[in-house]
Amino acid sequence: MSGSGWQAICKEEELAGGVFVEFSLGEATRPTRGFVFRRGDRVCAYVNRCPHLGIELNWLPGRFFDIDGCFIQCATHGALFTPEDGHCIAGPCQGDALTPLPVQVKEGIVRVNPGKAMT
Ligand code: FES
Repeated sequence: MSGSGWQAICKEEELAGGVFVEFSLGEATRPTRGFVFRRGDRVCAYVNRCPHLGIELNWLPGRFFDIDGCFIQCATHGALFTPEDGHCIAGPCQGDALTPLPVQVKEGIVRVNPGKAMT
């Protein structure tokens, strides 16, 4: 962790095998969560908030993908989001997108920077 807004989330190796790691983005008065996962060579992170109703995407811990493991799916009304850029390609918020979080992997540690995503 550092004073520059980067928040240590997990070890890179914890993301092996399609695991999603959830984390808190702080804000005691308005708790918000995020999630991070590996997609090919990239590590991606988003705020856990569906653009449709502003609620969390998942009902079960660590479960974000649809049954085929292709898209991030909102458990409430089934909106589908592309993992690489968070764009909604089907569902009630089609054309909208998840809020991405900057990710950095350094010395085996995955960090995110909530920055402007939280304002
Ligand atoms: S709340 Fe996510 S699709 Fe409706």
